[in-house]
Amino acid sequence: MRVAMVGAGYVGLVSGACFADFGHTVVCVDTAPEKIAALKAGRIPIYEPGLDALVAENVRQERLTFTTNLAEAVAGADAVFIAVGTPSRRGDGFADLTYVHQAARDIAAAVTGPTVVVTKSTVPVGTGDEVERIVREVRPGIAIAVASNPEFLREGAAISDFKRPDRIVIGADDPAAAAVVSELYRPLYLNHAPILVTSRRTAELTKYAANAFLATKITFINEIADLCEQVGADVQEVARGIGLDNRIGRKFLHAGPGYGGSCFPKDTLALVKTAQDAGSPVRLVETVVAVNDQRKRAMARKVVAACGGAVRGKRIAVLGLTFKPNTDDMREAPSLAIIAGLQDAGAAVVAYDPEGVEQARALLAGVDYAADPYACAQGAHALVIVTEWDAFRALDLRRLHGAMAEPVLVDLRNVYRPEDVRRHGFTYASIGRP
Ligand code: UGA
Repeated sequence: MRVAMVGAGYVGLVSGACFADFGHTVVCVDTAPEKIAALKAGRIPIYEPGLDALVAENVRQERLTFTTNLAEAVAGADAVFIAVGTPSRRGDGFADLTYVHQAARDIAAAVTGPTVVVTKSTVPVGTGDEVERIVREVRPGIAIAVASNPEFLREGAAISDFKRPDRIVIGADDPAAAAVVSELYRPLYLNHAPILVTSRRTAELTKYAANAFLATKITFINEIADLCEQVGADVQEVARGIGLDNRIGRKFLHAGPGYGGSCFPKDTLALVKTAQDAGSPVRLVETVVAVNDQRKRAMARKVVAACGGAVRGKRIAVLGLTFKPNTDDMREAPSLAIIAGLQDAGAAVVAYDPEGVEQARALLAGVDYAADPYACAQGAHALVIVTEWDAFRALDLRRLHGAMAEPVLVDLRNVYRPEDVRRHGFTYASIGRP
């Protein structure tokens, strides 16, 4: 089938490359000429494991191309995906739909025959109705169906999430449109990936409900971790103890410094706004948002406490800046609030991250960057693990101890076993463990 992917950002690029890998012919369109030029030259503008090889192979097979010319991409496409950004609107947190609406207008103007416009961007309930209104207005004479197909990709694991999904949700009020989108995913039938065909509004809400639920699960275990610290229990064991109950499930019960990224913070806020506007507030999610915001700042206080109550004039080494490993994404990363808190308390911060430094430089002021974890630890009064990159999982503790001015390790991801670290002479603080 022929697919046009409007927006060659994270979602568009991963989805486009995967659809091409299924055997479809995919054209990715973006308005940014430098992005398209880079992609044409074989450079991937984002860091996602395996994406460069997948793109290269499908370009070589001539199933995947890139253009800035939307009309050319859309002409003759069986399905046109909208995968443009939906940032949080300044002020009220509601998703900013400017790019989605503009894409709908441009697509409608460019189609040459019947097609299905599919929204992949995360969009509030009712956006599909508005997209449909726009395409009808621009092209009253052509049969353009509008469907919703939310993505559930995790950064860092996006390709396997796309190719081995837990489920595919297709929201379409028109059965023919649902059939076209289902057909695109047909290669996955062999893997028995469940396909859920729902109404468009249901699909749109399902995406927000999924992210809000996951954010709630993380926030729940984070608060239980705080309680564990007060009552002398171990959150890792509590998480295992509850997670083995199939009704609860083991995933997303890893306590840490609070969730970040481009999705949970934005989507929980947008859901809160939608629910308030609909007169049916989601108070639980409102609380999750507030608790998570406070948590990121509280992590700086935790570091200060581990340093004996003051960090003024001290050198604090931070390992891991991105919101999670295997990405260079710094959006809403807990490191931002933690580093700001430490600097406010008078600390000098030196940081190391395997992929995130370039993006971090634009967001953080007054931070020194080290070339590796040991250089980062050199002369530091505390070492703080903020993101659990694999490279931090088996550090040479003896070498670290030798490099540091004070042997204080604050492990905000519970990467290490307390007894191992203490055996090496460190003062050790982690999350929710005695
Ligand atoms: C999330 C969802 O997991 C995807 O299903 C969804 O498609 C995506 O948002 C989206 O809406 O596009 P992502 O933001 O890439 O994916 O990352 P996650 O792996 O979900 O992690 C989000 C945050 O939660 C990270 O800061 C991570 O460190 C934190 N987290 C996750 C925890 O603190 N504990 C956990 O147990 C799991």
